[in-house]
Amino acid sequence: MISLNVNGKVYDLDVPPDTLLLWVLRDHIDLKGTKYGCGIGECGTCTVHVDGKAVRSCTTTVSEVQKKKITTIEGLPENHPVKQAWIKEQVPQCGYCQPGVIMQVAAHLSEKPTPDADQVITKMDDTICRCGTYPHIKQGIKTAIQIMKKEGKA
Ligand code: FES
Ligand code: FES
Repeated sequence: MISLNVNGKVYDLDVPPDTLLLWVLRDHIDLKGTKYGCGIGECGTCTVHVDGKAVRSCTTTVSEVQKKKITTIEGLPENHPVKQAWIKEQVPQCGYCQPGVIMQVAAHLSEKPTPDADQVITKMDDTICRCGTYPHIKQGIKTAIQIMKKEGKA
């Protein structure tokens, strides 16, 4: 039995310890916001937070994240600066990659000291969007930092 803490709730799951976190989130816990992209840790589409750090759930086994705090896109507060910025700037096109993009950006912005926009944009180099929303993502990052500053979080 594997026990996972996801979005503040504990789930006891009858799955083998080498089951990938992505499939447990989607198929066992029914949190479909986390998406499957490449499946080999290259695109970032499946990104979630584990103890506040960005982790690619397609290459992470459930045994690696037991006793840790997992947060998915559903667990990121609706008023989080990145979610606010993504709506304000209308960042997504098809939207498929965006849960992972948002989780990746949110993790970078939580690093201390909070990096400036250019540093965060550089760190997003390993994230792939098939729609090519990169200019929107860049603007979203800048706006998220502005919101954080306004809210006294940066
Ligand atoms: S689906 Fe996990 S990094 Fe691409
Ligand atoms: S918005 Fe379509 S894949 Fe990124």
